[in-house]
Formats: sequence, structure tokens, C-alpha cells
Amino acid sequence: MSAKKYKGLEGELYDLFRGGDDFDEIGFYIGMVHEIGGTCLDVGCGTGRVLIPIAHEGLDITGLDSSDFMVDECIKKIKEEDLQVNIIEGDMVDFDLGKKFNSLIVPGGSFQLINDRAKAIDALENFRNHLNKDGLLVMSFFNPFYEISHESLDGVWRLEKDKEINEKGSRALCHTCMDLDRCEQIMKVSHRYELLDDNGVVEKSEIKTSMIRWYGKYEIELLLQKAGFSDVKIYGDFQDLEYEDGNMSMGVTAVVPE
Ligand SMILES: C[S@@+](CC[C@H](N)C(=O)[O-])C[C@H]1O[C@@H](n2cnc3c(N)ncnc32)[C@H](O)[C@@H]1O
Repeated sequence: MSAKKYKGLEGELYDLFRGGDDFDEIGFYIGMVHEIGGTCLDVGCGTGRVLIPIAHEGLDITGLDSSDFMVDECIKKIKEEDLQVNIIEGDMVDFDLGKKFNSLIVPGGSFQLINDRAKAIDALENFRNHLNKDGLLVMSFFNPFYEISHESLDGVWRLEKDKEINEKGSRALCHTCMDLDRCEQIMKVSHRYELLDDNGVVEKSEIKTSMIRWYGKYEIELLLQKAGFSDVKIYGDFQDLEYEDGNMSMGVTAVVPE
């Protein structure tokens, strides 16, 4: 089982807590998809944080996600915004759409949720099989450099997000607790989601744990080459710049050779 299922409070609160663009990813993806043109597949599209702005640009995009909850949310938003986009439920490791695209994007670090090495390679090969010759793969990777060096690795729950959800003063909270396996390059991130009524009493609570694998620059290059890609480029923090020390994220592109 490679797919992490987003549902319950984690799914319901996704847009509130993670629906922004803190890393300036969206413009990076729009630029890349525009440049290559034609059809695009957004793998791990979630609620459409990146997919919907791309669709608003008039680009031909399809979405795929393993969570039925996220798929339904995305379809709901697409209808509300009067867009024509096909969203499919499937696992990035073994989906088979029987067609190829000009670009395939994996925003939001979704690929890092596959923590089995062999399955990660299967997923990259599957991406290549869904791209035309000269097709472009674009992916996001987040580095846990801050987390690795910071005191937050002490098993203590810390308040990460606190948002008001209605005029009466009800709130949604997210506490986070982290652990690290430096050898396996895995971050174990637990989120405790809570809904509080206007008196501050917890009405609903849920703990979800994600295993997030991190990657080094040269490791990504080798994996993509092994999966049959060429021209691997790594952008620091989603800008058209060299990836350098201190960057918290990598925008990665690779091409399917002729
Ligand atoms: C961090 S969210 C990113 C969502 C969206 N791309 C964004 O940037 O907001 C990760 C998404 O990947 C999906 N996902 C996790 N494992 C998956 C898999 N094996 N195959 C397809 N989707 C997966 C989750 O359901 C979730 O919607």
C-alpha cells in the first residue's frame, strides 16, 4: 500500500491549513506547463490547489489522486468554478490511464509520501510511461533542513496552526510532533487536528501520521535517470536559480528523451 489516504479532519481542513502558496509553487508550475503546452496530468492533485489555477489559465489539465475524499472535494470546487477538468482516483505507483500527456506535474511534495524505495522507482517509471517523447516531468521536493537542526525533534506537540472558522469564534487547530530517521531519510510527522467550539471546548480531535521521505539532489538525478528521464534540472525554491545551500525546497524537471 503506497497511498496515504487524506480524509477525516486532515482532508476537511486541508485547504484551510495547507491551501496557500507559501513556497511560490503555483507560478512555477503554471510557467512550466505553459511553456510545454498541450495536455498535463497533475498527480496527487488533492483539492486542486495547483490544478485549479492551471485550469483557469485555459490549459488542458487532468487530475489524479488516491484519496476519494480529496477527489470529491476537487470535483466540487471545479464545478463551483465552472471549469471542465477530469479528476480520476488512482495510485501514482500503478495508475494506468491508457494515454500520454505533454507534461506531468507532482506538486506539494506528494511523491515524498511514497516511503518504499522500490515503489518510488515504479512511480517514476509510471510517470515516464504517461508522458509523450519530449514530455516534461515537474516535481516538488521539500527539505527538512530546518526540522533536522531544530529543537522541535523532542517528541513534544507544538501548535502549528490556529484559525478561526466562523463568526461565533469556533476554531480549528493543528498541533505537530516530529521524529526523524536520518538513516532512512524519513520524517515521521504527526498532526493533531482539533475543532474547538466558541467556548474553546474540543468538539472533535484526530491524529494523523505521515511518513515523508526526503531526497538529496544527486539522488533525485540518479533516480530519474534510472527511470529513463534525461535533462534533469533542479531549481532552488521554485525559482529559475541554481539550487543552493539554505534552499528549503527543490523544483525538479526532467524530460522523456526522443
Ligand atoms: C500534500 S498533498 C498535496 C496536494 C496538492 N498536490 C497540493 O499541492 O496541494 C498530497 C496529496 O497526494 C495524495 N497522495 C498520497 N499518496 C498518493 C499516491 N500514492 N497516489 C496518488 N495520490 C497520492 C494525497 O491524497 C493528497 O491529496
